[in-house]
Amino acid sequence: MSTIINDIEIIKAESSKINEVDFDNLTFGSVFSDHMLVCDYKEGKWQAPKIMPYQPITLDPSAKIFHYGQSVFEGMKAYKDVDQNVWLFRPLDNFKRLNISSKRLSIPELPEAYFMEGLKALLELDKDWIPTNDGSSLYIRPFVFASGQGFHASPADEYKFIICTAPSGSYFSGDVKVLIEETYSRSANGGVGFAKAGGNYAGQFYPTQLAKAKGYHQVIWTDDNTHEYIEEAGAMNIFVRINDTLITAPTSDRILDGITRKSIIELAESEGIDVEVKKITVTEVVEAAKNGTLKEMFGAGTAAVVSPISAFGYKGTDYELPKLNDTYASFLKKRITDIQTNKTEDPFGWRF
Ligand code: COI
Repeated sequence: MSTIINDIEIIKAESSKINEVDFDNLTFGSVFSDHMLVCDYKEGKWQAPKIMPYQPITLDPSAKIFHYGQSVFEGMKAYKDVDQNVWLFRPLDNFKRLNISSKRLSIPELPEAYFMEGLKALLELDKDWIPTNDGSSLYIRPFVFASGQGFHASPADEYKFIICTAPSGSYFSGDVKVLIEETYSRSANGGVGFAKAGGNYAGQFYPTQLAKAKGYHQVIWTDDNTHEYIEEAGAMNIFVRINDTLITAPTSDRILDGITRKSIIELAESEGIDVEVKKITVTEVVEAAKNGTLKEMFGAGTAAVVSPISAFGYKGTDYELPKLNDTYASFLKKRITDIQTNKTEDPFGWRF
């Protein structure tokens, strides 16, 4: 059956796949809910979005996404509280960042209503897919890519904006061991590091595979010029606690302006934690690990939430982080997830 709500045509799936999903054993982003939102850009404008059953899409082999990687994405989550109300976390920030990324990749920017109204209609339809188990949520993946044809290395004339959702558990299983990168770089000044461009992630796979072969889960990227400054970990921003001060690198055109990152900074400050947003060198972190003042390192991101780092490797040496009982990571993780899932008040106005 096809209906039109607020300009959004909805074609419902004939039957739901929901009973095939084991909601008690969810991994991250590997099963997909019944519907997706699709919106086409053609003839110079975004056309009205449609919701349809989740399904493969057909593209011409010359579509520019395949050749020139013109694509950007976002990561968001939907949560359900005990009264079955559905919540998003700072969704307008994701919308704005998608357009910031699109602009840098010469992709036409989306109207806010198509993103927000489209997302609301999709979640209304698939709300039964939002898990309620602790640590699980409905991961939302909005993305835009060049569907227009041609081998000419120039922006496409057609694009697709799609939102798919995936009931998901944790991104990492357990603590994370990271390698501080000395050779490869994720981004450079004037580049696209600040954007959620697909290619930023593809470029990390090979160095990360090399790190994985040595027993690490993630790479901590350092600046491309000196490899002396800690930047981010690709799937998450990085926080370091030296004594009682929480430090994270300032965003730049090389570092993603993470929504979890900026929320953690605000939360920590509001809780009286001393936070410094400043450039931090690998030497400082190694020194702090040696003299015992390095208390914690953790990653923060939508998928990663707040993920404690148990050890880091640098120049052939592994440095273990202390095993503390009360960590900033566990405190801040609880504070942010309680706000996200409506278990506590939201003095910041982040819940939507
Ligand atoms: C997210 O945290 O949502 C991201 O987009 C990171 C991705 C590597 C899973």
